[in-house]
Amino acid sequence: MILENLLNKLAINLHKYFKNTRIMAENLRSPNSFFFGFIAKRLMLVGNQKVIEDSVERLNVKSEDKILEIGSGNGQALIEILKKSPLQLKVIEISPIFRNHLKKKFGDKIELSENDAKNLKGIIDNGSIDKILLINVIYFLNTLDLYLKELKRILKKDGTIFIAAKFDAVKTFDDNVFRNKQIIDLLKILKRFFKVSYKCIDLGDINSKYYAIYLKKK
Ligand SMILES: C[S@@+](CC[C@H](N)C(=O)[O-])C[C@H]1O[C@@H](n2cnc3c(N)ncnc32)[C@H](O)[C@@H]1O
Repeated sequence: MILENLLNKLAINLHKYFKNTRIMAENLRSPNSFFFGFIAKRLMLVGNQKVIEDSVERLNVKSEDKILEIGSGNGQALIEILKKSPLQLKVIEISPIFRNHLKKKFGDKIELSENDAKNLKGIIDNGSIDKILLINVIYFLNTLDLYLKELKRILKKDGTIFIAAKFDAVKTFDDNVFRNKQIIDLLKILKRFFKVSYKCIDLGDINSKYYAIYLKKK
């Protein structure tokens, strides 16, 4: 526990130093180096928990729901979702490092796929998912239209997509990697595909202040 706390503090301090670099941003999108990957994974573990718990509460998971999470990372939201015993829990995760971790941690409690979320054909049928969750993932989706089209295809008629994003915390992060980090611009694109509603939720500090964005089919 003491070691865990020390490693977490180390990661937070290193991140302060590297947070606006491209390599740090790339590792937050998908960890791929030993050093920056260590910082990114630790940061997600300690920095995202409050937002994750709040987001899953707002997702309002029912026992008859088919749920999809895109970009589960360490799997913190999956723990919260599984507490609600949904009918089905699918996970799309492009990072091999995170996939290995999720396989070990959740086994057959989840249906894990390695696809990029812009192409889920052959894995997820048209109009088959009740609720789709993306926490700290929307920033990276480029070109966003392709992803939104695919999410619209798989969502049930009265289904919900829930996006959680910490636009304030990421505003100085590298633009080449964090492509969607302006709420106003993002809303314009989302509205071309979906009915959109959103609220800003402040759970007490900049790292847990986030936008909860709800999408429904038009
Ligand atoms: C910043 S992490 C967020 C992890 C977790 N949701 C959280 O909030 O702690 C972004 C996650 O999205 C995944 N990801 C990024 N782009 C993706 C894509 N195009 N398709 C599927 N997963 C993606 C990454 O591998 C990573 O696990």
